[in-house]
Amino acid sequence: MKTIDDLGDLRGRRVLVRSDLNVPLDGTTITDDGRIRASLPTWQRLLGAGARVVVVAHLGRPKGAPDERYSLRPVHERVTELLPGTTVRFAGDTVGEQARTAVAALRDGELLLLENLRFNPGETSKDDDERGAFADQLAALADVYVSDGFGVVHRKQASVYDVAQRLPHAAGGLVLAEVEVLRRLTENPQRPYVVVLGGAKVSDKLGVIENLLGTADRILVGGGMAFTFLAAQGHEVGSSLLEADQVDVVRGYLETASERGVEFVLPTDVVAATAFSADAEHEVVPADAIPADRIGLDIGPRSASEFARHVGEARTVFWNGPMGAFEMAPYAEGTRALAEALARSEAFSVVGGGDSAAAVRLLGFSDDDFGHISTGGGASLEYLEGKTLPGLEVLA
Ligand code: 3PG
Repeated sequence: MKTIDDLGDLRGRRVLVRSDLNVPLDGTTITDDGRIRASLPTWQRLLGAGARVVVVAHLGRPKGAPDERYSLRPVHERVTELLPGTTVRFAGDTVGEQARTAVAALRDGELLLLENLRFNPGETSKDDDERGAFADQLAALADVYVSDGFGVVHRKQASVYDVAQRLPHAAGGLVLAEVEVLRRLTENPQRPYVVVLGGAKVSDKLGVIENLLGTADRILVGGGMAFTFLAAQGHEVGSSLLEADQVDVVRGYLETASERGVEFVLPTDVVAATAFSADAEHEVVPADAIPADRIGLDIGPRSASEFARHVGEARTVFWNGPMGAFEMAPYAEGTRALAEALARSEAFSVVGGGDSAAAVRLLGFSDDDFGHISTGGGASLEYLEGKTLPGLEVLA
């Protein structure tokens, strides 16, 4: 992959940078700015080289038309705060009059953030021509292109894929760093290699589990997806989240794992509540005796210490997905215990996924507590799955 160094002298050149600024919002308040902070070094490097930096990004999943709820304006405010001394402009459209005028007015060492790419149907279109037409308009705004939105490299979208075919291009520092870390996980990880999977749905993680059955030594399963595993072992899971159509698939994974000597570690106790609510009555129950009217909302303390022990013994750890409904205090302890174990461990540790990264920050951990916090959710999973990622392929 070409790097920014390969682009030559950038003074006075218009550089289109695709970043992933898809941050969680509560109204217009950013609740975790990790992805913005992770994007800064590439911008600063380009600004320092005297480039005119045009940043493009998406927020959420608007349906191809402007929608104020998904405006990047709050992100612009935060970028301005994080880059004191730099002129940070904003255009209220992406390839329209405002953007074109703002690009023309941009001076060396200034940054311009354009409005949400996904306000344009061409960005995410499955039709190559429609996407291509939008990519032409984006490409017309710049002289060179830098791909730095690692969290979207698994998307074949105009700003990720098609623009790279239209402009001299390079991978930014964030993309290079993320790929390097994930390569360490897939090529010869130090053993024991422990993977911790959580989050709501097992169906989101089928591909990655299949692949991990060939690379990991131990897979710890928590979060909502654990209940489909418990059901596959024949346990009743009460009213907990269960993907009944995946039970057979999961049973197959358990069998393959035992043939290959990969150990699945499932919760042995869970925090079970009367409702999906912080105020609901809740208690710790054995994982094989969840009452019919209870919902499992976190792994229990015995499971948490067992998971922590495995993490402590590992030399490589990849973690994706919270262990419970951590946004509600009574169900945050499993995720917290795991994060603490990871922070204590000497292993090479990677926290992958927007949700898991946001979870550890919201629980008060700092990025420095972990080897690497990936900005990619779906992207890091698809990389570990061994899939070809369009946004990386196009940079090769
Ligand atoms: C993410 O949040 O994982 C990335 O920003 C990609 O977003 P998307 O899943 O809406 O394409």
